[in-house]
Amino acid sequence: MRRLLVIGIGAGDPEHVTVQAIRAMNSADVFFVVEKRGETAELERLREEVIARYVEPDRSFCTVALPDPRRDRGATAYEAAVDDWRGRRAEVWESALARELPDGGCGAFLVWGDPALYDSTIAVVDDIRSRGRVELEHEVVPGISSVQALAARHRAPLNRVGGAVQITTGRRLAAGFPDGVDDVVVMLDADCAFTRFADDEMEILWGAYVGTPDEILIAGRVGDVAADIVRTRREARERKGWVMDTYLLRRPRH
Ligand SMILES: C[S@@+](CC[C@H](N)C(=O)[O-])C[C@H]1O[C@@H](n2cnc3c(N)ncnc32)[C@H](O)[C@@H]1O
Repeated sequence: MRRLLVIGIGAGDPEHVTVQAIRAMNSADVFFVVEKRGETAELERLREEVIARYVEPDRSFCTVALPDPRRDRGATAYEAAVDDWRGRRAEVWESALARELPDGGCGAFLVWGDPALYDSTIAVVDDIRSRGRVELEHEVVPGISSVQALAARHRAPLNRVGGAVQITTGRRLAAGFPDGVDDVVVMLDADCAFTRFADDEMEILWGAYVGTPDEILIAGRVGDVAADIVRTRREARERKGWVMDTYLLRRPRH
């Protein structure tokens, strides 16, 4: 039986890595690294830094790169396109696991933030297990997500007394503020969907590259800070070639 560890490594600060994650990394014989299209050398370096910092120098392991299949981002049927891409990912990972991980060996995937949040690693591993061609037992090690990192850096709780919090995407927010909640965390928003709330009393706590040396934080009434966030985000993206940002939008409670 092969063992596979899906390890959350936090959202950019190597000190986000938990003691449990360090122990898990030190039991891996093979690190599988998904070569994401468009992922910059800087993100790859951060992952390498985590391995170099926390895996004992006398531990022998190897690293196997997994090319990521192309995803059809123009497809109108979004969920079908994601399903198709996950299926092709499962095929690539399945052959690599069969080829590179000996029976009895332990493999690991290092996942940005927490593996339970907007990440397909767990779903792909479930897919491989259900095909039954490679026998695997697996474990998930939680990580500090960008959501927790953002809240901590703004020194803000996510919920207010007895309230609910919804975590959603920019794509969904663009269709309207969700019903039944006052506090919404937004991820994966390339189009700054918050700008449509500039006329409301809504407050925003925004952060880019949270936990890294390039971290940028901006907070205030959306109407007051939206333009500043849009410009700051655009300039940062131009300067670094990539941007990852998350924000909390909150309706005032009177
Ligand atoms: C594919 S999701 C992965 C989320 C990750 N599993 C987590 O737990 O944070 C990528 C999105 O996470 C958010 N994100 C990840 N790292 C971030 C960081 N250091 N600062 C701000 N947002 C971040 C951004 O919204 C980005 O578009």
